[in-house]
Amino acid sequence: MPASHSYDAIILGGGAAGLMCAAIAGQRGRRVLLLDHADQVGKKILISGGGRCNFTNIGAAPDRYLSQNPHFAKSALSRYTAHDFLDLVERHRIAWHEKTLGQLFCDGSARQIVDMLLDECARGPVDIVTGRAAGEVGHADGRFRVDDAEAPSLVIATGGPSIPKMGATGFAYDLARRFGLKVVEPRPALVPLTLSGEEALFRELSGVSTDVVAAAGKARFREAALFTHRGLSGPAILQVSSYWRHGDPIAIDFLPDAAPGWLTAAKKARPRTTLRKLLDEALPGRLAETLADRIGLAQELANSPDRALADAERRLAAWSFRPNGTEGYAKAEVTVGGIDTAALSSQKMEARKVPGLYAIGEAVDVTGWLGGYNFQWAWASGVAAGQAV
Ligand code: FDA
Repeated sequence: MPASHSYDAIILGGGAAGLMCAAIAGQRGRRVLLLDHADQVGKKILISGGGRCNFTNIGAAPDRYLSQNPHFAKSALSRYTAHDFLDLVERHRIAWHEKTLGQLFCDGSARQIVDMLLDECARGPVDIVTGRAAGEVGHADGRFRVDDAEAPSLVIATGGPSIPKMGATGFAYDLARRFGLKVVEPRPALVPLTLSGEEALFRELSGVSTDVVAAAGKARFREAALFTHRGLSGPAILQVSSYWRHGDPIAIDFLPDAAPGWLTAAKKARPRTTLRKLLDEALPGRLAETLADRIGLAQELANSPDRALADAERRLAAWSFRPNGTEGYAKAEVTVGGIDTAALSSQKMEARKVPGLYAIGEAVDVTGWLGGYNFQWAWASGVAAGQAV
């Protein structure tokens, strides 16, 4: 750390949001100190997207984010878009591809994204200090003090508590509260759901994956669901988990392409077949067997009353599970909730009542869908604060 210990901005947390904020502020000539308690910056970037980093989503739009104020993210997301980040990636000659549903990944490794952000930071007066936790934060005469460094701006970029094994903490919330900011109750999101009791029987299907529409309340996602030894996972389940509240059911449509009335139509077309055989044609064998057993229509369709077939069709289109919980922060990709946006400017990410205090990234009550949306929020909110500090 230089002798003066005086900076224009101190950024706490060298993850996606903190690194982007440091780069932008540094390139504006701001003297920046970026502090992270981990032994290296960007650890979540390194493990993201199976090591290839799903760094953005070309469909990133405000309606793909959860927040108590659904309008809050609009300003930052519109001023720094997925295409802006993609331009940066291309300027650094990082090869990329679209996997599915607008999700953009590195062809090579997530390390390229961290190196790119470090290169961008190196273009300005940015000091990066790792292996040092942000301890006591002082605030007097319009200046923030962290250990022996001080600055008129302090950016909270320490993320949320998901994956504590990787150094994630609730530090952002504690610090925000100390400055009088409210915190919307955080809970694990993009997380597998657990089943117990009768539904635990589905654990026998551990390892089976199938394309479904999963729904929690009004939120519906068509992607794969995966049965696990503890319950349900896979992208469709992770997506609905962000909307799921304890005690609520989730509904799964196991045959999202089936037209209404398909089973009574099958009775006419193939009266000698059985439900089990039809399910076998559309679903993985073990799942077809379990669902057919549960429904219990063993006889040929010709011998099944239309009403029973219509009931079976309804059950298959909205199979209701009542999860008893989630796999918690240990397995959650992100955190829903966080620093209440009501206290922040959506333009600058600055606390209205504490000039010079900013909060960005996952620490804030803005949570994206699965598929690159969360990094896009980290980049966009990081840029918004980086332009303001
Ligand atoms: P982030 O968690 O990245 O950074 C916070 C930093 O603060 C960390 O470096 C931490 O060490 C530091 N810190 C914490 N407490 C501190 C303290 N007290 N003092 C100092 N430093 C402290 N998203 C996406 O869009 N695409 C993807 O492919 C994936 N994949 C993915 C995989 C896995 C396994 C996880 C867990 C998460 C993802 N995500 C994702 C989500 C994404 O990683 C997440 O949304 C961003 O990393 C959030 O960026 P932040 O900078 O806000 O926090």
